[in-house]
Amino acid sequence: MAIAFGIDIGGSGIKGAPVDLETGEFTAERFRIETPYPATPEAISETAFEVFKHFDLSEDVPVGVCFPAPLPGGVVPFIANLGQEWVGCDAAEVFSKAFGRTVTVLNDADSAGVAEQAYGVFKDQPGVTIFTTLGTGIGSALFIDGVLVPNTELGHVEINGHDAESRAAASVRKRDDLGWKKWAKRLTRYYQELEKLFSPDLFVVGGGVSRKHEKFLPLLDIKTPIVPAELRNTAGIVGAAVSASKAAK
Ligand code: BGC
Repeated sequence: MAIAFGIDIGGSGIKGAPVDLETGEFTAERFRIETPYPATPEAISETAFEVFKHFDLSEDVPVGVCFPAPLPGGVVPFIANLGQEWVGCDAAEVFSKAFGRTVTVLNDADSAGVAEQAYGVFKDQPGVTIFTTLGTGIGSALFIDGVLVPNTELGHVEINGHDAESRAAASVRKRDDLGWKKWAKRLTRYYQELEKLFSPDLFVVGGGVSRKHEKFLPLLDIKTPIVPAELRNTAGIVGAAVSASKAAK
């Protein structure tokens, strides 16, 4: 069985699991440690290594990390929801140093999109697909005929002078105590903007809240088909593992 290890760096937890690359399923139960604060490169990468060490895996298992910031050329240009000390860091270098081995790093939404595209809801989807994750922020992964265009940051599209994720992320629904209807209105505005800019063929919605998709997807007033992700919150880990295995080849 071909295995790779995936780690998901989130604002509340750092989670990892070994992944069977054939099926996209975990081969052991996921292990999680609370995200340390301040969320500096050192603290985060050491905690990620703790998660990895929990599993007794052989030396040659590829390791991938998905991270909540864009990584053009591997370097963090800005970061919305973790320590600002990350800005300017080469993320793969930081994790590889902590692990003492090569670690592949990619954006968390790109990673989840890669997993959905490989094993989930938009396998073989032609045209333009926009995968979004609704969580602490809004992440995005853009696919054209199944090929990822990395590091799109569509959660930071500006709408009426506001950063979109500051109005429509799942965390905002909780923070502002919005009902599903009110939140769906904000999401409608958000997805309408993306429709205007990209004319996509399909939207896919991931993130923990996609488990409750019946509560809000039917309320959206948009023209493009929109479907919930299938892998939900395992997707980041799975995509990181897949990407690490590809990088190792
Ligand atoms: C970050 C993205 C990330 C998303 C979800 C945004 O604030 O800029 O890179 O994918 O949050 O974590």
